[in-house]
Amino acid sequence: MESFEVSGGARLVGDVSVTGAKNSVLKVMAAALLAEGTTTLTNVPDIVDVPIMSEILRGLGADVTGHAPEIAITVPAELGHEADYEHVRRIRGSVCVLGPLLARAGRARVALPGGDAIGSRALDLHVMGLERLGATFDNAHGYLIAEAPQLSGAQIWLDFPSVGATENVLMAAVLAKGTTSIDNAAREPEIVDLCEMLQAMGARIGGVGTSTLEIEGVDRLQPSAHDVVPDRIVAGTFAYAAAMTRGEISVHRARTEHLEIALDKLVQAGAQVGQLDDGFTVRNDNRPRAVDVVTLPYPGFPTDLQPMAIAMNAIADGVAFVTENIFEGRFMFIDELVRLGGDVRTDGHHAIVRGRESLSGAPVRATDIRAGAALVLAGLVAEGTTTVSDVFHVDRGYQQFVEALQSLGAPIVRRVDETLV
Ligand code: UD1
Repeated sequence: MESFEVSGGARLVGDVSVTGAKNSVLKVMAAALLAEGTTTLTNVPDIVDVPIMSEILRGLGADVTGHAPEIAITVPAELGHEADYEHVRRIRGSVCVLGPLLARAGRARVALPGGDAIGSRALDLHVMGLERLGATFDNAHGYLIAEAPQLSGAQIWLDFPSVGATENVLMAAVLAKGTTSIDNAAREPEIVDLCEMLQAMGARIGGVGTSTLEIEGVDRLQPSAHDVVPDRIVAGTFAYAAAMTRGEISVHRARTEHLEIALDKLVQAGAQVGQLDDGFTVRNDNRPRAVDVVTLPYPGFPTDLQPMAIAMNAIADGVAFVTENIFEGRFMFIDELVRLGGDVRTDGHHAIVRGRESLSGAPVRATDIRAGAALVLAGLVAEGTTTVSDVFHVDRGYQQFVEALQSLGAPIVRRVDETLV
């Protein structure tokens, strides 16, 4: 078991570069299944989800070579159709192979991923959308079993702009017969990234970046080369680290326009945000002011940065009201923050955060990727030492997080079996 040991009190100063987005790379890897031949992906992050997804693709008959930041996926004419539980349960995002498999193989047997630490994550919208395109579903022995000898375009309204459902339906519709429209589609930058890759493969998609996607199915797609969109959540994590530690961080290879609300919250908190040619800078000289946050689908405040917003408010001047509208389990890490002295109370999906002058270092546990990163940020502003355990979660989303923070002057080390590395 590995943990991070963090000492509080340092001002984080310097430059970091972000890599490609975890939430995009898994989807564009799945999209490669839609075309026979070799797809090349660049700006691939060096995180553990990528080799696991590679295993899933290999299990379907594809050949995956190379290593982050560049991988090649060679897809045969005939695909397998099963994604097993051992892999799917480790990265829930891998259910995005469902749409491509139905489109290419006409059937899919994909393990149900089960619950995870941020709450129940249903697949009903994925299933409803794919059924509208003509697929039939069965659920047996922990697997979703889907068949679709022929997918046909349809009008689909999503009750909620689910990222995963939009991706699965989109990847099925690009090879369906006729026209599909997805209304109330998610419009996260990672969806736009996927659409751009599909367009480069020959897909006909209109309304990219809006909440209505119009897809005209084509008979076949060609493989392409694609550069993965930068990770806005990693970029945002460093932005909050700068504001919390009263530091100054330049975040390179980031897309500022993907973080507008999250950065505006930092301005409201008293930080200065500046634009760079390839990213942005955040500088903060004073104790942050409390800021209210409401998570919503893009372009609202991202749920994946909500733990960082709560961590910042925990040491801010004032009282903040934080509302989580996307995942009901996203407040689980608050009990860990309270162990660091945070004054946070929750009522359903609302949290009231009363800012304290300082936090107090303690052993805490990462409950998910973003919670783990937020606890590291809290540790950076806590008196004494904080040990964050279960950091395998953090490693799923942040490439060389410890090294990046060290380069900014953070006193942080990774402990493996009690040995410093
Ligand atoms: C993706 C991201 C995750 C991010 C989230 C919201 C990946 C790998 N993960 O997750 O980091 O926090 O988007 O931006 O890309 N829902 C249903 N039925 C469905 C599908 C979803 O009820 O069929 C619900 C979920 O339970 C959840 C909400 O909709 O409460 C949002 O889920 P969704 O947008 O689908 O997120 P993911 O794609 O799972």
